[in-house]
Amino acid sequence: MLSDICFEYYESVDSTNDRIKERAHQGADQGLVISAGTQTAGKGRIGRKWESPTQDSISTSILLRPEELPIQSVATITIIAAMAVRAALKKSCDLQPVIKWPNDIVIDGKKICGILTEMEMKDSKVWYVTCGIGVNVHNRDFPEDIAFKATSVDLELEKLNRTESGSRKTITTAIWESFREYYNIFLKTGDLTGLKEEYEKHLANRGERVRIEAQADSYEATALGITDRGELIVDVDGEKRIISTGEVSVRGIYGYI
Ligand code: BTN
Repeated sequence: MLSDICFEYYESVDSTNDRIKERAHQGADQGLVISAGTQTAGKGRIGRKWESPTQDSISTSILLRPEELPIQSVATITIIAAMAVRAALKKSCDLQPVIKWPNDIVIDGKKICGILTEMEMKDSKVWYVTCGIGVNVHNRDFPEDIAFKATSVDLELEKLNRTESGSRKTITTAIWESFREYYNIFLKTGDLTGLKEEYEKHLANRGERVRIEAQADSYEATALGITDRGELIVDVDGEKRIISTGEVSVRGIYGYI
């Protein structure tokens, strides 16, 4: 069970995930959160870079030590982090994000956050996990390749004619408080049994047509919900199919999400 959370903040680090890894090797307790104003070598999924050179975004990572968790359940922690970011943006900024399966947080059709979960094993068991979250808060400009599908807290508040700007500290605290709540529910079963209903409430394109794009195949379906393991359930011409994460991309048939 995750109880205490211990927050540390640095002006600049290479990657908050890498700082957590270093501390994990030194024996730090689970619940350590490292956040930074900027990252000089932020990491994205599948070996991509995650740029956070200005003091505009949140870069934050947690150390977890889920000793009894089977290795195949570790990926679900990313889904839990997505749920926590959604809840935190609602609670601290009154924004209404949705979750684009499996773990993109989207507002008004644009992505506001990225999550990278990494782990190391020892003696064939999960030794530690670091879950790192990047949220765009004050950002106004994005790299050219993602500009069409990226947004930030401040840009979304402006669209609602709200004059305040997001507080990185308040949002970060809210993220990890929500994360603790969801993570402890997850640990009881090691899957999403206790969280599925909450996840599905916020699932983008639920009940709507989506396009499933796998490497060999591309087809339309209706998104129905998720399984306890976080797979997407879709209906294809009256037949239910289960879609696993991996190299599959699911899009609404209108626009990015
Ligand atoms: C993605 O590719 O969408 C995942 C991006 C994850 C970025 C966050 S920022 C905090 C943490 N530290 C990193 O180096 N990466 C993650």
